[in-house]
Amino acid sequence: MSAAHSFEAVFGRPATIFERAPGRVNLIGEHTDYSGGFVLPMAIPLHTEVELAPRRDGMARVGSLDVPGAARSTFVLGCEHRTRGWLDYVQGVTAALRADGFSIRGFDARFRSTIPVGAGLSSSAALAVALLRALRLAFSLRLDDVAIARLAQAAETDFVGAPVGIMDPMASSLGRDDEALFLDTRSLHFERVALPRTLELLVLDSGVKHQHAGGGYRARRAEVEQAAQRLGVALLRDVGPERLGDVAELPPPLDRRARHVITENQRVLDAVRALRAADEAALGALFAASHASMRDDFEVSVPEVDRIVASAAADPDVVAARLTGGGFGGAVVVLARAGHGRAAARRVADAAGSDVRVVLPAPSAKE
Ligand code: GLA
Repeated sequence: MSAAHSFEAVFGRPATIFERAPGRVNLIGEHTDYSGGFVLPMAIPLHTEVELAPRRDGMARVGSLDVPGAARSTFVLGCEHRTRGWLDYVQGVTAALRADGFSIRGFDARFRSTIPVGAGLSSSAALAVALLRALRLAFSLRLDDVAIARLAQAAETDFVGAPVGIMDPMASSLGRDDEALFLDTRSLHFERVALPRTLELLVLDSGVKHQHAGGGYRARRAEVEQAAQRLGVALLRDVGPERLGDVAELPPPLDRRARHVITENQRVLDAVRALRAADEAALGALFAASHASMRDDFEVSVPEVDRIVASAAADPDVVAARLTGGGFGGAVVVLARAGHGRAAARRVADAAGSDVRVVLPAPSAKE
């Protein structure tokens, strides 16, 4: 970076704190987290980084190297107000800290990220977690990694107005490369599950941008809540596969929505076993069933994503593939035979269409 664009050139003094947080991909367990269900996300080696210098006053000056025109924006702590832009994710964090009784002073901060925005890879959770890590250090806040995840979720739900679940901030705050986080989103109990050495993780971005503050996610969440109410439970997590008969009696589309959530929870449990046993056939079948359920029952896939999943399924080195994240566009997660991932990702992307981009493995310098 040229000196003209350094933190010091923008803010008049050097940064003293450098933190970062990863994006995530969800292996399986989609649209289950706001029902208290199971998820299996994994941190990915793409990050949002923040450089920060604490201030003595109550002012926050914030910049981003990724957002055009966002060289520097300013707000006063305690006077956060929604702008409907990326700054809301920063203001959401400071508002959430205050709501939880933490007191901080102002700061100068600048972000940069390698996580594509709108691809369903949790760029927003990574921003919030990275900032919370930096503020924890700057102001000696007593926050553990789970508390950071809860605050990041509050920033997004309460301030930005996107009613997301706890999966993404938990994955960003606690996730590690090459290990999935098998998480019970009700108790927040988690176990780490290693990706078998025989498998390699690929991520392909469909190029169709999703928006969580948008209507689709909110509508699905409301349908799931209605289904739970009609089944007489607080959360669909409390309905097991033995009640699929009752579920079939619900009026459409609540029957399909509930069937997705209930069968998806079971698929997470089965996928954890399959990963531990490195059972490729089982993983392939579970990912395929999860994708079909998201497409047909939950109706959150789009044709571009279905095409990527279909071309992945036809590839000899692909073990499993499905839509990952909230849907309505976004990315596909693929498990490929280790050592063959890069070539397989290229073949799948080429076969699926021109807007498809290989996110992982990250392109090598030659590409
Ligand atoms: C988005 C939300 C998560 C989760 C997924 C769907 O990523 O942020 O909380 O609901 O969608 O599994």
